[in-house]
Amino acid sequence: MKVLDSHDRPMRSLRLSVTDRCNLRCQYCMPEENYVWLPRADILHFEEISTLVDVFAGLGVDKVRLTGGEPLARRELPKLVEMLARKPALADLALTTNGILLAAQAGDLKRAGLGRLTVSLDTLDPARFRDLSKRDVHSQVLEGIDAALAVGFQGLKIDTVVMQGVNDDELIALVEFARSKRAEVRFIEYMDVGGATGWSMERVVTRVEMLQRLARHYGKLEPVEEQSSAPAARYRLPDGATFGIISSTTQPFCSTCDRSRVTADGVYYLCLYARQGFDLRGLLRSGASATEIAETIASLWRARADRGAEQRLELRQRSALARPGELRQDPHVEMHTRGG
Ligand code: GTP
Ligand code: 5AD
Ligand code: SF4
Repeated sequence: MKVLDSHDRPMRSLRLSVTDRCNLRCQYCMPEENYVWLPRADILHFEEISTLVDVFAGLGVDKVRLTGGEPLARRELPKLVEMLARKPALADLALTTNGILLAAQAGDLKRAGLGRLTVSLDTLDPARFRDLSKRDVHSQVLEGIDAALAVGFQGLKIDTVVMQGVNDDELIALVEFARSKRAEVRFIEYMDVGGATGWSMERVVTRVEMLQRLARHYGKLEPVEEQSSAPAARYRLPDGATFGIISSTTQPFCSTCDRSRVTADGVYYLCLYARQGFDLRGLLRSGASATEIAETIASLWRARADRGAEQRLELRQRSALARPGELRQDPHVEMHTRGG
């Protein structure tokens, strides 16, 4: 079944957060030491996640991405991957990780049937990594990337959030690093989402600026023409290597957005910037049938009018989406809870 929202956008891609916890404290995402964590009893079991994925697949979802927090911090994650990889309706099963636990788990994830892997890496400098993430574990991330390659993951993606005066001098080094790993780096504009309490427009490096800097070094950058709802616009260097830019902040892509997200405790969000979610956990645990759950999700999707990033762009005065008090009251507003 194909379900269209109020802007005729189909539902295709589901981002599943498997934990709100993380072993880093990146400035742009989770800068505090302590947070209000989701109650353990509320965290969906793998069987519940699997049931939900079947329902979503019946409504047109064929891409699933596991996110967090840090998804590899969820115990026995390869088991969930194995359950999902068995579903013929899913054409694409991917995972976004910070890489710290990857060296230990890459083999199990590959064997479990994970298709694609994205590793977040904001800097190639260990001291800068420590300043940015408050943990001194840069070498573990690099080892994780190498381990993923060694067990046969191909077409690795590397996600870099670019921040003015923090890591914006590393664009070229990161393109070259990705090339050396046969990976593709995607530069992400710093977004004013939930936990990004230090966000300000001055700290954003725009897509236009990034392209200018890269063109100064590499010469002409060729846009890769493709029909896609993916957030990244891709470019080819004169020598054939590619990179992507995700311009959620200055040139959002809501008009083709086919993504929705479920938090680790089963709250369903139709947009990264949505204030309100729908409690699927309650529905699941009250014994609702798969048909009832499907009807609920389909009607939520049909009514969907969200274009959060485009609306942010229309604001004249922009600051972080939520105030710290609001974040404490409802952790679901946090980026690390809703999974990016
Ligand atoms: P593929 O296209 O499947 O490779 O993955 P992806 O680019 O969707 O996945 P990834 O988890 O690597 O996402 C990269 C970043 O894109 C996220 O961390 C967000 O910053 C941004 N992003 C992903 N989904 C959305 C979305 O729905 N809206 C907006 N505005 N940004 C998003
Ligand atoms: N801006 C942009 N991307 C963010 N992420 C988290 N917070 C932000 C933010 N404020 C995304 C990045 C990171 C992933 C884990 O979440 O892609 O690599
Ligand atoms: Fe960093 Fe991701 Fe953890 Fe946020 S959730 S602190 S971006 S690793």
